[in-house]
Amino acid sequence: MAATQAAETVDSAGSAGVVGLFPPGTALDAAGALVLGGVPVAELAETYGTPALIVDEASIRARARRYADGLAARWPNSRATFASKAFPCTAVYRLLAEEGLGIDVAGGGELTLALAAGADPAGLVVHGNAKTEEELRLAVETGAGTIVVDNFDDIDKLEKILGVTGGEQGVLVRVTPDIRPDTHEAISTGQNGSKFGLLLPQAREAIARLRGSDRLRLDGVHVHVGSQILDLEPFAQAVEAVAELGEFAVYDLGGGLGSRYTYTDHPPTVEAYLDAVTDVAKRLLPADARILIEPGRSMVAESGVSLYRVVSVKRGGGHTFVAVDGGMGDNLEVSLYQQRFEAAVATRPTGGGELCRLVGRHCESGDTLSASVPLEDPRVGDLIAVPVTGAYTYALSNNYNGARRPPVVFVRDGEHRAVVRRETYADLMRRDLP
Ligand SMILES: Cc1ncc(COP(=O)(O)O)c(C=O)c1O
Repeated sequence: MAATQAAETVDSAGSAGVVGLFPPGTALDAAGALVLGGVPVAELAETYGTPALIVDEASIRARARRYADGLAARWPNSRATFASKAFPCTAVYRLLAEEGLGIDVAGGGELTLALAAGADPAGLVVHGNAKTEEELRLAVETGAGTIVVDNFDDIDKLEKILGVTGGEQGVLVRVTPDIRPDTHEAISTGQNGSKFGLLLPQAREAIARLRGSDRLRLDGVHVHVGSQILDLEPFAQAVEAVAELGEFAVYDLGGGLGSRYTYTDHPPTVEAYLDAVTDVAKRLLPADARILIEPGRSMVAESGVSLYRVVSVKRGGGHTFVAVDGGMGDNLEVSLYQQRFEAAVATRPTGGGELCRLVGRHCESGDTLSASVPLEDPRVGDLIAVPVTGAYTYALSNNYNGARRPPVVFVRDGEHRAVVRRETYADLMRRDLP
């Protein structure tokens, strides 16, 4: 049965219905259609086709400044670092490097992208639970400021590499504090049983070993307990846990702050998060220590909007399936950890309408963008906008069913420019050998 739901009534943040989930600065034109970064959605769809990932540049820059300035105001000896796995595209690296952020990279690929985008190697923090010797050598040779030791094998490999290259390498020890935040299991990393980091007794052992190293300079410790965390307690607990390990020059407190994907998500603000971690730091960490943070999702999620075209509307058995020209090829978050998304018909984003199942074009029943979302009179050819898709969508996009990965389009002050083009069918064969 068709149902009507007025999104306005459930948007307790007080923002204007579904539009409140779109990047700050999103407006409606005279006909009631979405205008992103000053550009009408119809113009974007016509210029770049669909699906397309539209990114509001001002929104990323504003988030970066909120994090960097907010952290500096609370703890001057600090640096905000972008966890680039959330959006590893050179235009985004460039933008955040321009804003003065350090860059967290997971492995040789992201390291290469960051350097290609002009990031300062000294500000790189290199992560990974399975860093190969080749990747570690690349990090050492390019002058990456910090390598995060996840396991004893990292120490062995780095000792060996530095035995050849000479010089000294700054490292942090990744600590697993046995904290289980309230988030999906697939993105929880701080608990006993996580594949990441070292539990406190093993971390103490690694610290002792690194203190005796001639080539590895132990700068401090790192902790990251998970992603899409919507309460502050786990962040405070993580700082308490690393404080137990003693006094260091550097404490990297990771990322993890959640984003507001749906009306029912109420993540803490950036400022509340910064207060939570620095309040504990002021009590327990040395006053002259350097603090790093590594937000990824909460830096870029709200800047992104995925635009799709409706290909089919099918009713039956009490369901309305609205099928679009994208899906799990460009947004794997639903399949991987059941992330919930809202959506709207981009030319009439009323927040109300018929409850629909918004599905993709891929050959899996799990290829759903939103299991139940109100859409206003959806018709074939309509544009659908899914907000809060700036994080972990481009990063996880794939060619399933021969899908061509969508373009990334930056919008700002009424201007638009593609920073990544759509893949072509020829691109699908680019790596094939005769
Ligand atoms: C080591 C590390 N730091 C930071 C992040 C960023 O987390 P988020 O995107 O939730 O802020 C991650 C994400 O998995 C991570 O593994």
